[in-house]
This record gives sequence, C-alpha cells and structure tokens, in this order.
Amino acid sequence: EPALPVFSQAEVSKHGSLEAGVWVTFRGGVYDITDFVAMHPGGDKILLAAGGALEPFWALYAVHSQDHVLDILSEYKVGELDPEDQARQRAVEPSDPYSGDPQRHPVLRVNSAKPFNGEPPPELLGDSYITPSAIFFKRNHLPVPRVDPASYRLRVEGLPRPLSLSLADLKSRFPKHTVTATLQCAGNRRSEMNAVKQVKGLNWGIAAISNATWSGALLRDVLREGGWGPEAAAAAAAAAGRGARHVQFEGLDADASGTTYGASIPLNKALSEEGDVLLAYQMNGEDLPADHGYPLRVVVPGTVGARNVKWLGKVIVSREESASHWQQNDYKGFSPGTDWDTVDFKSAPAIQELPVQSAITQPADGAVLERDADGEVTVRGYAWSGGGREVVRVDVSLDGGKTWQVARLREGEEQGEEQGEAPPPPPLPGRAWAWKLWEVVAPLPPGEQQVEIVCKAVDNSYNMQPDSVAPIWNLRGVLSNAWHRVRVTVRE
Ligand code: HEM
Ligand code: MTE
Repeated sequence: EPALPVFSQAEVSKHGSLEAGVWVTFRGGVYDITDFVAMHPGGDKILLAAGGALEPFWALYAVHSQDHVLDILSEYKVGELDPEDQARQRAVEPSDPYSGDPQRHPVLRVNSAKPFNGEPPPELLGDSYITPSAIFFKRNHLPVPRVDPASYRLRVEGLPRPLSLSLADLKSRFPKHTVTATLQCAGNRRSEMNAVKQVKGLNWGIAAISNATWSGALLRDVLREGGWGPEAAAAAAAAAGRGARHVQFEGLDADASGTTYGASIPLNKALSEEGDVLLAYQMNGEDLPADHGYPLRVVVPGTVGARNVKWLGKVIVSREESASHWQQNDYKGFSPGTDWDTVDFKSAPAIQELPVQSAITQPADGAVLERDADGEVTVRGYAWSGGGREVVRVDVSLDGGKTWQVARLREGEEQGEEQGEAPPPPPLPGRAWAWKLWEVVAPLPPGEQQVEIVCKAVDNSYNMQPDSVAPIWNLRGVLSNAWHRVRVTVRE
C-alpha cells in the first residue's frame, strides 16, 4: 500500500462544512467523512466535529466505542495528521497566568478565553437531563487555581469553634449528600438584552445553564460541627439583631493583587434542613473537574450561579454580606431607566433566587426545517425556576404567541432512560432544584413560510416569564427571562 499523505491541522481545519468537505482526525489519522454525514445514525450532530478531533465527541457519546463504528471510520481515511502539529497544540506559554488552565471541550462556544467562559451548543444541552461535565457551561472570573488535594484545608470561621478541614475530613466526618441541581448564570440569555440595547457583560446565548448531580457534605452539618446549634442561635437572637445573618464564601482564585472571588448567601438558607446547600467534592459521580472548583465548591440549589463559589477556601459566618465586588457591585438588577451615570449599586439587593426561566434548544434560531413525513416539527427546550419552585407547565406557540399548546414535560422514566440510568425521583415540595426538559411535536401549516416559535414556563407560585425584553432590560444584562423566540423557515 502506498503511504498516505501527511496533512497539517491548518489543512484539516479548512474542511469544516459540507460545502468545504468534512474532515476529522482520530488517533493521528485524517478522515474525509463528507459522504458519511447523511448516513450518520446520530444525525447532523456529527458536523460539530468537522475540521477537528473526534475524540472529545466520542468521549461524550459512548455509543461509538464499538468495533463496527471504527470499521466505518476506517473506510474514510485519507491521510495522517502532522505529528509536529499535534505536539504544538499541546504546548503552552508558561508566563501566561492562564497557562495552568485545563483543556476544554472544543464544542464549547467561547465567550471569553482568558478567563475562560464557554457554553455548549443548545442542541447538545437539550439532549440530556444530566449535562455531561465536559460541556457544562463554564464561568470563570480569574485563572483556574491549582489546588493540591493533600495539603488543602477548608477554613470555617465566625462560629464558637473555628474549623480547619481536610478533604478526608469532609468526606469521612460528614454524611455524603447528593443533590441534582441546575446552575444558571445571572447573565444567561444576555445576548437578547444586547439586541435591544447594549449592555455590559459576556454575550451569553441561552446555554449559560446546565444540570448536574453534586455530592458532598451539607454546609449545615459543617456549621453545626463548628458549634452552630440552638445555643448559638439563641445567643445571636439575644444580641438583638447583632447576630449572624450571612454565610460568606471565599474562593482560592485570585487576581494579581491577591483579591479572591467571593460571595455570600443568607444564613437561613445555609442552615435550613431543606436548603440542601452542599460543600461538593463530586460532580456527576466523579471528582470535581478543575473548571468546576476542584477540590471543593459550594452548591446552593435554587440560587444564582454567582453564589456557588468554586475552589472554596473559606466559609465565614457573619453579620455582613460578602464585601466582594461580585456581591456588592455586580449581579444586581435595575430599572430599564437606570444607566451607568445614575446607577447606585447599594440601592439594589444582591441577586439570590432566580426568576422562572425557559428556552428552546431545538430547532435553532434561523434554522431551515424540512417538514417530516407527518408534516410535524419537534420543538425541545428546558425550563427551571429559582428558590426550589417547580416548573408546572410550559406553553409553546408556533405562531409568535397568538395560539398556545402545552408542552410535554420529559419527566421521569424518559429523562433517566436517555442516560441509561434510573429515572430521577419527583422533586420534594419546595426543593425542585433541577430543570425539566420539555418537548412538543406539532403539525405545521402547509406551504413554505417563516414561523416564530415561542416558549414560556410557569412555576408552582404561578410566576410567569415576561413577554418581551425591553421592560426588563437592565444595564448589566442580568435576569434575562422573557419569552424565548426562535424564527425558522419551513420548507416543503
Ligand atoms: C450514533 C458513527 C461522529 C453523535 C452513531 C452510530 C454510528 C456512528 C455507527 C450508531 C451506533 C450504534 O447504535 O451501534 C459515527 C462516525 C462518526 C461519528 C463514523 C465520525 C466519523 C459523531 C459525532 C457526534 C455523534 C461527532 C456528536 C457530536 C452520535 C449520537 C448517536 C450516534 C448522538 C446516537 C444516535 C441514537 O442512538 O439515536 N454514530 N459517529 N457522532 N452518534 Fe455518531
Ligand atoms: N467561584 C469562583 N471561585 N470563581 C468564579 O469565577 N464564578 C461564579 C460561580 N463561582 C466563580 C465562582 C459564577 S458567576 C457562576 S455562574 C458559577 O460559578 C459558574 O459555575 P460553573 O463554571 O461550574 O458553571
């Protein structure tokens, strides 16, 4: 057999679409899979890998670790990937403060590379009830700190007995508690606010939200170990309002001046038996990934992402909220009439529980849809509300909001089935921490046309989403939860 040609990564990257041809790499080989795309059992998701490596995608979809899949791939081999290119891709610039950051999944849409902020494509997000950690949205303000698990200590202060806990202490001295909880960034869907009028912040689409299973010690148990009990509570009450009201968290990630990321939550959330606030050391059954706070992070179910402090160094029970920039001068909501000349950050409370939210993950905005054999379209999305309020209904419109139908909540069996796992139990009242995925299969009116698909969710307090962005616009672009609209073209 003649030796196959060697291609550079730059050459492979040029083949990133059906028009240019679809090339991928796998274990140092280069494959031209253009002709296979239409035959792929997993549909056009395969195009997400076009121009790059297959490995990170096949790591997400274990269905590919079978011999017959490799046999198919081998038919399309056209060359070898330049070994020097492979080495160069692994090399990093050591003087860069971000040189210690971990590798990220190539499918993430990068809103900022340093610090790293990325979100998954909506069609992958809406695919699985539990978001695989590799594509879980990542929101970092600073370089990812490298923490040595052996010397790591969590310090707990502001209690009768200050604590210094190793990872082994956290794992052995407190019961392990597992919670499935959705995290959402305050800036999720900010790009829709930007479309109305420019705001300051990362231009997130609809995927700065993800759902995972978290395991760790209950913060409540740790605070009790530090002596927070009925006596301490009584003493605080006796001090006539001078007692502790907040729990502050400090991260180990710091800027050049040594300032660390920080936030706080109300003490009653931390102490509540039904608050489920975790000091988590596991995500989706494995050690926390570096980007998500290894070795320990706070998970505050029902509460805005910003308070879920990663790389946790310190917990402080205090009369005061965290003094950090992110608690005091960011992550707050304002009137559409407030601008950067008039804004007074002290006048608004820090965001804690988030409002009811939903969005369409499929089809994508701007998609061209082929009517299926039954003349129907499948619409899918997510819905979630803050504070443990359960989403009880999602309404979907295929005519821009004139007429509505009720979506099927893809609960129970089906959501677990897709993961090959046991279905999630129904949420406990007031503790609906996880999102619900939903689906509508609906007939489309005949003829080629533009269709505006809209969704809106309702939670069990009958909170609903506002119909448009302008009345909730704010200068920081947070709390963006208007009806989600996607415009598609339907083709015969
Ligand atoms: C399923 C091949 C790339 C996502 C499959 C199956 C084959 C296959 C043979 C069916 C496996 C079975 O059921 O036994 C390939 C080949 C690829 C490729 C040859 C590259 C050349 C990708 C990529 C993604 C992907 C990049 C995702 C981004 C999926 C999914 C399924 C699937 C989600 C499951 C479909 C279902 O069961 O409904 N693929 N695949 N594939 N593939 Fe791929
Ligand atoms: N914790 C630390 N230490 N540093 C951070 O930059 N970002 C916060 C929060 N915790 C942050 C942090 C914000 S704004 C969000 S939305 C979530 O982490 C994102 O968590 P994720 O990256 O695990 O999705």
